[in-house]
Amino acid sequence: MENCQRVAMFSAQAYDIKSFSQHTLSSQVNLTSFETTLNANTAALSQDTDVVCAFVNDQLDAAILEQLKQQGVGHIALRCAGYNNVDIDAAKSLGMAVSRVPAYSPEAVAEHALTLMMTLNRKTHKAYNRVREGNFNLNGLLGFTLHDKKIGVVGTGHIGAALVRLLSGFGCQLYCYDPYPNPELENLGVQYTSLETLFSECHVISLHCPLNEQSYHMINQDSLSAMRDGVMIINTSRGGLIDTGAVINALKTHKIGYLGLDVYEMESELFFRDHSSEIIQDDVFERLQTFHNVLITGHQGFFTVEALTEIAEVTLQNIIHFAQGKADKNRFLVNPMDS
Ligand code: NAI
Repeated sequence: MENCQRVAMFSAQAYDIKSFSQHTLSSQVNLTSFETTLNANTAALSQDTDVVCAFVNDQLDAAILEQLKQQGVGHIALRCAGYNNVDIDAAKSLGMAVSRVPAYSPEAVAEHALTLMMTLNRKTHKAYNRVREGNFNLNGLLGFTLHDKKIGVVGTGHIGAALVRLLSGFGCQLYCYDPYPNPELENLGVQYTSLETLFSECHVISLHCPLNEQSYHMINQDSLSAMRDGVMIINTSRGGLIDTGAVINALKTHKIGYLGLDVYEMESELFFRDHSSEIIQDDVFERLQTFHNVLITGHQGFFTVEALTEIAEVTLQNIIHFAQGKADKNRFLVNPMDS
């Protein structure tokens, strides 16, 4: 087909291939998928393609972008919202386009954050195993009533706002921090506060801001020391928001009472693959797993049918529209056609 974009998809799982190939727009691209992540050793696989379709743990630093550019790639089509793994300045100076899917079912991630919160609190994961084994003892399963608790939401963009809407149904007291407050949420009775107030007041703190220089390790020894004893921390955003060593210390001293993670600083070595018959070498991750009050999922917040369909649709549109010279501004982080 004329002008048919050749696309190399990295970190491709069976569900990605299915959602992309079943979409009607897929007939307009020539898609080759690779299960491996994109890194210095695998970048050569995208030789002679126009577009690299990448996911959260694919490496897109300056050196890799330069190699891709030399191989003929002109467009990095992220099939995710976050872009902390891309050197945006390097892409700009190389004249490469970078697009993303700004919001694919934010409710899916917000619902997962709530799932982590509720599971840690009411311990349904433990109750399930106990009851299956005929153990109906309730010791160790004591939870707290979420109603009227102070919940802090850090970052009230698409996902944070969706979580605020869910939690307002529980009758929680909602404290939010965002450099750009959302007036619609203020109408729901939400209180925007400083980050310091949010950290010191809240029983539960849920992170929904992007990872950048300002937010890197926002949960650290200092911020933890200002929090309530027994605080619950939920992170479905990016692992780098949390200093994992500081969090392990805070779990040991009972400062943190509950920790729910869908993301982890060093997740690129582990997540999205089956390591069940290997010895996991990441001792920090393994230490986290030893705490009875830590619940970790492997970056599945986005993983709903609706979100996968949306990701495929928007990514394919980004690829096709860019090739036709009519890219949607909201979805392009870098667009050489604009300059
Ligand atoms: P968004 O861009 O709609 O909202 C982010 C909000 O954070 C904005 O309102 C922004 O003003 C605010 N913000 C920026 N810097 C901040 C800071 N230092 N402190 C507090 N707030 C700050 O992004 P969206 O769609 O809500 O996604 C949030 C994050 O969730 C993404 O950056 C991504 O890392 C993560 N994510 C995780 C998924 C998963 O499967 N676990 C799936 C999709 C996104």
